[in-house]
Amino acid sequence: MFQQISIVLLLLLWATMFHRGACGTSLQLPCNEKDQSALLVFKLGVVNHSKMLPSWSNEQDCCAWRGVYCDNSTGRVTKLDLKQQYLEGEINLSLLQIEFLNYLDLSLNGFTSLNAPFDDTHASFPNVQFLDLSFNDDLHVDNLRWLSQLSSLKYLNLSQINLQNETNWLQFMQLHPSLVDLRLASCRLTNISPSMKYANFSSLLNLDLSGNHFVSELPYWLFNLTSISNIDLSFNLLQGPIPKSLLSLRNLKFLRLNDNEINGSIPEWLGQHEQLQYLGLSENMFHGSIPSSIGNLSSLVKLSISSSLLSGNLPTSLGQLFNLKSLSIGGESLSGVLYENHFSNLSNLEELVLSAPFAFDLASHWIPPFQLTGITISNANLGPKFPEWLYSQGSLVYLEVPNSSISYINGDLFWKFVANITQLNLSKNTISADLTNITLNSELIFMDHNNFTGGLPLISANVIYLDLSRNSFYGPISPFFCHKLGMENNLDYLDIAFNLLTGGVPDCWEYWKGLSFLFMESNMLTGELPSSMDSFIDLIALDLHNNNLSGNFSLDLSNVTNLEFINIRENNFSGIVPTKMPHGMEVMLLGSNQFEGNIPPQLCNLSSLIQLDLFHNKLSGSIPQCISDIPSLGGAERTSHYPFEFNLYTKGQELNYRDYGLRRTLDLSYNNFSGEIPTQVFKLVQLQSLNLSRNHFTGKISREIGSMKNLESLDLSSNKLDGEIPGSISSLSFLSFLNLSYNDFMGQIPIGTQIQGFVASSFAGNPGLCGAPLPINCTGESVNVDVSKQNGGSNDDAFETDSLYLGMGVGFAVGFWGLLGSLFLNRTWRHAYIRFLNYVADQLHVFVAVKFNSFSATLSSWF
Ligand SMILES: *[C@@H]1O[C@H](CO)[C@@H](O)[C@H](O)[C@H]1NC(C)=O
Ligand SMILES: *[C@@H]1O[C@H](CO)[C@@H](O)[C@H](O)[C@H]1NC(C)=O
Ligand SMILES: *[C@@H]1O[C@H](CO)[C@@H](O)[C@H](O)[C@H]1NC(C)=O
Ligand SMILES: *[C@@H]1O[C@H](CO)[C@@H](O)[C@H](O)[C@H]1NC(C)=O
Ligand SMILES: *[C@@H]1O[C@H](CO)[C@@H](O)[C@H](O)[C@H]1NC(C)=O
Ligand SMILES: *[C@@H]1O[C@H](CO)[C@@H](O)[C@H](O)[C@H]1NC(C)=O
Ligand SMILES: *[C@@H]1O[C@H](CO)[C@@H](O)[C@H](O)[C@H]1NC(C)=O
Ligand SMILES: *[C@@H]1O[C@H](CO)[C@@H](O)[C@H](O)[C@H]1NC(C)=O
Ligand SMILES: *[C@@H]1O[C@H](CO)[C@@H](O)[C@H](O)[C@H]1NC(C)=O
Ligand SMILES: *[C@@H]1O[C@H](CO)[C@@H](O)[C@H](O)[C@H]1NC(C)=O
Ligand SMILES: *[C@@H]1O[C@H](CO)[C@@H](O)[C@H](O)[C@H]1NC(C)=O
Repeated sequence: MFQQISIVLLLLLWATMFHRGACGTSLQLPCNEKDQSALLVFKLGVVNHSKMLPSWSNEQDCCAWRGVYCDNSTGRVTKLDLKQQYLEGEINLSLLQIEFLNYLDLSLNGFTSLNAPFDDTHASFPNVQFLDLSFNDDLHVDNLRWLSQLSSLKYLNLSQINLQNETNWLQFMQLHPSLVDLRLASCRLTNISPSMKYANFSSLLNLDLSGNHFVSELPYWLFNLTSISNIDLSFNLLQGPIPKSLLSLRNLKFLRLNDNEINGSIPEWLGQHEQLQYLGLSENMFHGSIPSSIGNLSSLVKLSISSSLLSGNLPTSLGQLFNLKSLSIGGESLSGVLYENHFSNLSNLEELVLSAPFAFDLASHWIPPFQLTGITISNANLGPKFPEWLYSQGSLVYLEVPNSSISYINGDLFWKFVANITQLNLSKNTISADLTNITLNSELIFMDHNNFTGGLPLISANVIYLDLSRNSFYGPISPFFCHKLGMENNLDYLDIAFNLLTGGVPDCWEYWKGLSFLFMESNMLTGELPSSMDSFIDLIALDLHNNNLSGNFSLDLSNVTNLEFINIRENNFSGIVPTKMPHGMEVMLLGSNQFEGNIPPQLCNLSSLIQLDLFHNKLSGSIPQCISDIPSLGGAERTSHYPFEFNLYTKGQELNYRDYGLRRTLDLSYNNFSGEIPTQVFKLVQLQSLNLSRNHFTGKISREIGSMKNLESLDLSSNKLDGEIPGSISSLSFLSFLNLSYNDFMGQIPIGTQIQGFVASSFAGNPGLCGAPLPINCTGESVNVDVSKQNGGSNDDAFETDSLYLGMGVGFAVGFWGLLGSLFLNRTWRHAYIRFLNYVADQLHVFVAVKFNSFSATLSSWF
């Protein structure tokens, strides 16, 4: 819809230009020399400039250079538009010396520095009206003094560049009374000067300060901008109530305050703002009920409100908002029943998002007044039957009804109905249906946590993401993988874990080369893995744990260069420990199998390994000294994009995917290892968890252990270690789990606050050991040997290795879901997400990309 409008505009524009070109005199003056030399100075700042700006050479008239526009009658440069040209290096603002330049757009590039050579002169550039340096993500600008020379600036866009060191930014904006459009989104600004009364830029129409770090009430000066039409302050930490002075902004059409900490109630008087077209209040701390006066906002096109503190029902007056296209309401304390009159006049509604425990009392023959393109109803009481009225919505692009108490679908109708829906989310319901003969066709399918049964459904080539985990699917997986429909699949993510699937792993993997994520854990799969599985060239994560797979693990995965995670725990794999793994491998979980032999030294070449689990196999020999060569297990800082955390904002909801908590772990427990523990093990200073228990290790613990400063969990129990426990162990200040029981340690337990804090059983079974927390005094000659015996000779339940992994599996899946979900939500965002991944801790990239989209959509809807 919006796109159509802008295409029409574009055509119009093009037609106009064409018309002019045809009729105007095409007599063109040559480029002015001063302009040309200023451009050439700028060019020198661009990295690899001759390659990046090939047309910028003296052989051509500078008015014909890429991005340069001249006035035809004077030959003077008036506009430079180098948006999204992949330029890097320095922006030399000597460009502004181009006398008649009024438009400068260098946005969406990779510039990293800004040089304003005229900083302290009294130069003035009164012609520049448009300046856009936005989305140069790595550009840090320490001060905006240079802005003061641009006295006629109307459009200023510095979004997504780092201004964290410019605390006076607002003062510099004050110098531009002519400003019409100011965008400083995601600039890491902190000070919004809440008590400043008056802002000089009173002709401002559009203000975007979203995604900064403002912690204060809404600033006074905002309500002084009487002409303003758009305000976006979303994604900050703004507090306090919405002040009534908002009513003085009579031209306000677009107000985004979502994702802040604004509190108080949603004011009744807000209903007087009849010209509002867009109102975003979601994800705040509003309490009380949603006032029915909102139904008076007759121009509203988009409304979003959510807060966990809101209570009461949805006012039926919302059903009067005839112009509404998008309605999004959320809050776990909202309640009540929704009737047909809640929707009676919403004939233009395209998008409905309800995330609240509402019940629905809508007649099954109800014909809604709207034709939606997307619906999300979550955490609601929509069932037990999938509502009939939804079948009237013939143009849905997404249908999401997770966790909505649906247990019954009419299969004949339902699967045909959803076949052309791009995104289908039915997860966390209790739907029982046999999918044996069903073919799924949606691009993104979430059907996990239900009671779907029968054989796995087939998929068409459209499906990209498929989650069928935690259902009751049974039978062999080969019909799914070897069906001819599968040959042309585009599947990227497949999760069929936690079902009742049986039989062997088929030899059809050459069809599935595109898979990046394959989760088949916790089924009852048997037999060997076919060698065709190493054709998974795009694989990132593979989880087969908790099945009955057996045979040698002979896959050569060394060319699967993206593979980072493999979990084959709790199977019956045998033979030697697999070593043909790619260099980027980070997590290798091979525990609870039948692997035998030594630890192959090739493992030490896996330079990215952060978790190695060989727990409960039949391995023997000693630990190779090269273990300390694994840099990421040892000393190196982690370089990859884990652990990550980011927020994904979509359809008025915020989905938060946290770090899945990968801990640097080495687990060799429950094997037949012997010999001394090499000192190299204690040089793995990044290690957070070390488990060597239940082996036959002998000798003393090296004093080096004191350098493992990050160690949180240490288990050396049930070995034959002897000597004294080194005193350096008491310097491990993060240690929260310690088990040294059932060895031959002797002497006094070192003194240190947290050491004495561990339970006595951590030291049990070492007859020669004395001192707290053991109830044995060191000074006495008669060491009480019996105390340890009281704990029993058997130590089977003394500890629980598995607890070390607790939480990891779940978190991992969630993390990847998030990563993937984001990539698929909208392909045009892909670019931004990829950049995001290279730039960990910064969640802003994501949301800016999203917001950027929705904002331009809103703007075009005003035409
Ligand atoms: C100026 O001349 C160029 C080349 O002839 C033409 O493409 C362009 O449309 C003209 N611009 C104006 C504003 O007339
Ligand atoms: C610049 O060019 C050199 C040589 O052509 C190349 O090695 C380098 O990668 C280029 N740098 C960028 C940022 O493109
Ligand atoms: C930027 O341009 C000025 C001329 O306006 C020049 O003196 C300066 O050297 C340029 N900076 C760089 C880094 O090229
Ligand atoms: C920056 O803001 C201007 C309006 O001030 C807008 O026209 C332009 O598209 C924005 N740039 C980007 C990259 O969004
Ligand atoms: C901000 O200033 C501090 C202290 O002067 C400096 O260490 C830091 O690198 C600066 N940050 C940016 C983004 O310029
Ligand atoms: C802004 O506030 C100042 C001081 O409160 C007042 O004098 C001025 O008239 C206001 N301007 C507008 C445009 O509202
Ligand atoms: C789905 O799309 C296909 C082809 O685009 C069309 O033939 C079919 O009728 C559509 N099905 C439904 C239920 O809309
Ligand atoms: C699936 O289709 C086959 C062949 O048409 C049929 O025999 C079988 O009963 C169907 N199964 C289900 C569960 O519908
Ligand atoms: C799931 O379906 C099976 C058989 O269809 C049924 O026995 C079982 O009770 C269902 N489980 C739940 C939780 O609904
Ligand atoms: C891995 O790639 C190399 C180089 O392309 C090739 O020689 C080798 O055969 C490949 N190995 C496997 C197992 O595919
Ligand atoms: C240990 O010594 C303290 C005093 O030093 C004494 O009170 C306590 O009874 C002794 N405990 C044992 C088990 O001998």
